[in-house]
Amino acid sequence: MRSIVDRFLAAIMLEITYGRRVQSLDDELVRLAERGMDGTNEAGRPGAVPVDFFPILARNRSALLKAQEEIDRVVGRDRLPEFSDRDSLPYTNALLEEVYRAMTRDTKHYPEPEEFRPERHLRSKLPGSKALLPSSFVFGFGRRVCAGQNLADASMWLAIANIVALFDVCKAIDDAGKEVTPPAEFLPGFTR
Ligand code: HEM
Repeated sequence: MRSIVDRFLAAIMLEITYGRRVQSLDDELVRLAERGMDGTNEAGRPGAVPVDFFPILARNRSALLKAQEEIDRVVGRDRLPEFSDRDSLPYTNALLEEVYRAMTRDTKHYPEPEEFRPERHLRSKLPGSKALLPSSFVFGFGRRVCAGQNLADASMWLAIANIVALFDVCKAIDDAGKEVTPPAEFLPGFTR
């Protein structure tokens, strides 16, 4: 049943987007679109992207501590961050921008790209600033822009602000009592 609904939706999308009239459930492009939707669902699965965030924070404790200081100061410790707090949390926003920037290493815009440095985005929203905010391009452009952009960005922000507010993420300690630095490796995949 799910498969029939998926294929029906894919057929509607193909007709609206490309004007292709689908005649059969086994249409090759419908099957392709179905696989694309599965990939998108997987990318949007709760936890699929924020899972990268824990090793990032463990490796960059100073960024975590600065964001925690900001959230404690602005939101307080009696409640958790909400969307209405977003405009009042510039460092937490810059932290999310730096997570997005992990997708680019362009030294023209981001000197020392291997350094995790949310501060590089703090001035980007000032009038006249020429800095390029990663959120302005990681979701693509024009007609092919990510259809899930607002959902993905809002979910990521809420997840990150709440993780920062609630958890003191640090490196694990091995049997010899030494800190274990998580590897900065990405698995091949849609957004990871
Ligand atoms: C951080 C998370 C995400 C990033 C960075 C991202 C990025 C992108 C990019 C760059 C494209 C354009 C690809 C191209 O040029 O063909 C795209 C397309 C798309 N994305 Fe996302 N995406 C994310 C999450 C999501 C989520 C959660 C959904 C669904 C709920 C979604 C749905 C889609 C769809 C349907 C398209 C195809 C749009 C079209 O061609 O009409 N994305 N995404």
